[in-house]
Amino acid sequence: MLGRLIYTSTSLCQSDDIPQILERSRTLNAQSEVTGALFLHEGKFLQYLEGDEAAVGTVYGRIVKDPRHKDCRQIDCRLISVRIFNDWSMTWLPHTFGAGLLIDALVPHKRHADALSALDATSAGAFFYALSKLSQRL
Ligand SMILES: Cc1cc2nc3c(=O)[nH]c(=O)nc-3n(C[C@H](O)[C@H](O)[C@H](O)COP(=O)(O)O)c2cc1C
Repeated sequence: MLGRLIYTSTSLCQSDDIPQILERSRTLNAQSEVTGALFLHEGKFLQYLEGDEAAVGTVYGRIVKDPRHKDCRQIDCRLISVRIFNDWSMTWLPHTFGAGLLIDALVPHKRHADALSALDATSAGAFFYALSKLSQRL
């Protein structure tokens, strides 16, 4: 069964950690046909993982143990009918896509101290859906 998992965490990354995380993620996710996207906003990660339910669970099990971030909190975990990040094993979503504006629009209280943590499952899903469409235009 195809499933998705969305979580937030607090980054503990040094500047050169992110390229290493992306490179390793792309190799491992491609092997287990997991796709998704990673977004960093004001020191918080928001990540979307999709693929075989069990494979997504295995990847997330490794991610939560990673010392380069802390306080992983699952926002959503559900079955889905289609992937939204078909062509990417792990897309890095830079702010140039207008992601910050989207967060502002989706989080009920603007200027929330911790906007990503305030996202609910529906809003987080909508956020990644919108960004998947925008990233395809690159
Ligand atoms: C924010 C963040 C996102 C990550 N995303 C993935 C991912 O999508 N896929 C993956 O295999 N590893 C990801 N990792 C790396 C894993 O935590 C882990 O280092 C990697 O899977 C290798 O596992 P291993 O060290 O047990 O071999 C991520 C790490 C961080 C900090």
